[in-house]
Amino acid sequence: MKNPLAILFLIATVVAVVSGIRDDFLRLPSQASKFFQADDNVEGTRWAVLVAGSKGYVNYRHQADVCHAYQILKKGGLKDENIIVFMYDDIAYNESNPHPGVIINHPYGSDVYKGVPKDYVGEDINPPNFYAVLLANKSALTGTGSGKVLDSGPNDHVFIYYTDHGGAGVLGMPSKPYIAASDLNDVLKKKHASGTYKSIVFYVESCESGSMFDGLLPEDHNIYVMGASDTGESSWVTYCPLQHPSPPPEYDVCVGDLFSVAWLEDCDVHNLQTETFQQQYEVVKNKTIVALIEDGTHVVQYGDVGLSKQTLFVYMGTDPANDNNTFTDKNSLGTPRKAVSQRDADLIHYWEKYRRAPEGSSRKAEAKKQLREVMAHRMHIDNSVKHIGKLLFGIEKGHKMLNNVRPAGLPVVDDWDCFKTLIRTFETHCGSLSEYGMKHMRSFANLCNAGIRKEQMAEASAQACVSIPDNPWSSLHAGFSV
Ligand SMILES: *[C@@H]1O[C@H](CO)[C@@H](O)[C@H](O)[C@H]1NC(C)=O
Ligand SMILES: *[C@@H]1O[C@H](CO)[C@@H](O)[C@H](O)[C@H]1NC(C)=O
Ligand SMILES: *[C@@H]1O[C@H](CO)[C@@H](O)[C@H](O)[C@H]1NC(C)=O
Ligand SMILES: *[C@@H]1O[C@H](CO)[C@@H](O)[C@H](O)[C@H]1NC(C)=O
Repeated sequence: MKNPLAILFLIATVVAVVSGIRDDFLRLPSQASKFFQADDNVEGTRWAVLVAGSKGYVNYRHQADVCHAYQILKKGGLKDENIIVFMYDDIAYNESNPHPGVIINHPYGSDVYKGVPKDYVGEDINPPNFYAVLLANKSALTGTGSGKVLDSGPNDHVFIYYTDHGGAGVLGMPSKPYIAASDLNDVLKKKHASGTYKSIVFYVESCESGSMFDGLLPEDHNIYVMGASDTGESSWVTYCPLQHPSPPPEYDVCVGDLFSVAWLEDCDVHNLQTETFQQQYEVVKNKTIVALIEDGTHVVQYGDVGLSKQTLFVYMGTDPANDNNTFTDKNSLGTPRKAVSQRDADLIHYWEKYRRAPEGSSRKAEAKKQLREVMAHRMHIDNSVKHIGKLLFGIEKGHKMLNNVRPAGLPVVDDWDCFKTLIRTFETHCGSLSEYGMKHMRSFANLCNAGIRKEQMAEASAQACVSIPDNPWSSLHAGFSV
């Protein structure tokens, strides 16, 4: 079976059969809406901050991407003291990993885990620690991390890379609360005000990554952002079981993300002294316009786009082994890969676990339970949000009000306190949104933009959700999403 959609429809059917529910709840893919000469005088120090925002074996690929990025920077000549890694570190030695101690980021790839510094692992990965690292504020750090911070100076070049799930105005973290766009941009502005960098390049892989910066990041702060997807779009995963190429058969998870492997694999083979960010942007753009999905995903750029004239070398150094592999358009064939939405990758994993478990075994029963819980959570969240839209705006207008995408240049929401308040109010009555539920962040933003207040939201949520469903996804024990 080559087509991932076929896999997902199969899952829908299976779950519909086992749970006796009609199969119209799974709408897939969930987000299919819509040369320069460089200044290579690198006087200062090169720094990097790498963040895998997820946890759990099902999200294998995010930590794989980050480990891969580390290997490139290390080969490029950056020192460990200047590379700060946030990685939950529950993959390499996870009981589900068929090769203990090894993480791959390509079907035929070698280990990328070896040597990766574990600066911030487990629950030490949270927004306050991320901000404290960016602002080099050691006294604001909590937990048992290495204490490494972005202690950069005015001549230094900084590369930041984040990969995980996201939603409109939000980036995921292993535990709640997630990163809100307003807070992240405030931190970047503070960093700028502190005069402790020359320029920053920030790569972000997440659904709707554009929404983190559009209308929020100033263009004159020497910060250049490349994001995996425009506001309103999904980002995509790749190297999944039953895809081509697929990881070795012993893997039941996707091992890469489409935007991430596009830039990482481009860096793997080139002399980075000869490739500019603008060139890499073109390569990545070609590789992420997914043939399978009509509208594809659009790699986006924000902030000081003029910095894209610089070479990758300025931030990442270069691997001497690639000295003769200069970048030319010709060696960057844009072969689009078929991909699965970031938000549906978990279904493939849970389905594979179910499919592979022996008939009649307790593992089979457990896997079936997991699949049912995942699907039930999705349905509950989708239906509750839809219901609230109808209650607040009427049956006709509800859908449009919730899903409206603002014009480019406007932030997702004007009042970020309202955004957080409405999400917490919803979750109080309906349970946690969880990773999947991030797809509805835009609806909460739109409610704020339409002037909905906390009291109205509480009333509508109470009406839409009689109780919080009893499953791990809905549980509020880890707190609110924002
Ligand atoms: C393996 O991943 C699961 C979640 O997918 C997690 O509950 C478990 O703690 C992980 N194991 C290790 C050893 O990190
Ligand atoms: C560093 O963090 C501490 C604790 O959160 C805070 O009181 C202090 O103002 C911060 N320092 C700077 C320079 O931002
Ligand atoms: C991207 O695709 C376009 C159209 O197919 C092609 O002309 C261009 O050379 C490609 N660029 C790169 C860098 O692959
Ligand atoms: C690059 O090419 C030069 C000249 O042919 C050769 O001496 C050198 O070893 C090559 N470097 C690498 C890393 O392959």
